[in-house]
Amino acid sequence: METLEKLIAALYAEPSNENNKAILIYLRKLCKKNQTILIPVQEDRPLRLTMEQGDNVYVAFTNLKEKELGPSCEVKEESLAEILRLSNVSEAVSGLSINPWGQSYYLPKVYCEMILDDKNLESEIKIVQGDITTFTGDCIVNAANASLLGGGGVDGAIHRKAGPQLLEECRNLHGCKTGQAKITQGYQLPARYVIHTVGPIYSGKHEDSHALRDCYWNSLTLAKQYDIHSIAFPAISCGVYGYPLKEAVPIVLKTVADWLDQNKDYTMHVCFYCFDAETKAIYDQCTHME
Ligand code: APR
Repeated sequence: METLEKLIAALYAEPSNENNKAILIYLRKLCKKNQTILIPVQEDRPLRLTMEQGDNVYVAFTNLKEKELGPSCEVKEESLAEILRLSNVSEAVSGLSINPWGQSYYLPKVYCEMILDDKNLESEIKIVQGDITTFTGDCIVNAANASLLGGGGVDGAIHRKAGPQLLEECRNLHGCKTGQAKITQGYQLPARYVIHTVGPIYSGKHEDSHALRDCYWNSLTLAKQYDIHSIAFPAISCGVYGYPLKEAVPIVLKTVADWLDQNKDYTMHVCFYCFDAETKAIYDQCTHME
């Protein structure tokens, strides 16, 4: 485990996306080699630790020296993949902390899952055709209106699928300005969160493109604040609000590319959900034109 300790030390010396990714890639390699790791146990069950921020985590030590830096506890060898799996599925913890008493390295659930599921650690953009309410990632974005009290189109579909609690929570948000974004739980939706944003009503004026850009930029920024790593967008403003797809899509693709470029330290999987083949064809076309 010396290499892992060196990679963690390198991250402390220079906190960067590359150094963080090197640790995740190395942990994935260790899992494939069925590497074991020391974990504290109580009655043979993994011991939970409460972090300063109040989060509960599972814990692992790369060696006994690391374990001895903290309060005494019983330890056992456990498969690294198994403790990552437990950290990901257990509702009782937010993730796994490696060497909590020394140069600790914290793995939120989403990283535990990415390591185990061979999920791409690079940010990525995908274009799919389908109903956004079926998206099983962390978050879907709703093309709402300023009242946030529901409507037709994708707004209606999301509220229908999420159930009445969504509207209840939206009532407490007291609306949303064009270009802004607000977040709620997903309730009956497979996605854990819904980010509600209000697109511009197309007028043909230059400011439409700024408002449309703000919707995507502010939604992504809000998603990062909530440690969301997979997010689905509908074609905001391209329905009832009349924004021509061929004008909107290049703005959307550039905005998301710029945001990912400015947030290299953060893995974000972005999925554009096109409700029909025509919309998908335009996204595909504009992507190849880039
Ligand atoms: N999944 C994915 N995309 C969808 C879905 C769905 N279930 N339903 C509709 N869409 C697509 C539409 O085909 C369009 O391409 O979402 C895009 C946005 O269309 P609208 O939902 O009409 O949203 P918008 O143009 O931003 O207008 C917002 O419409 O529904 C009202 O309350 C909403 O007043 C607000 C206005």
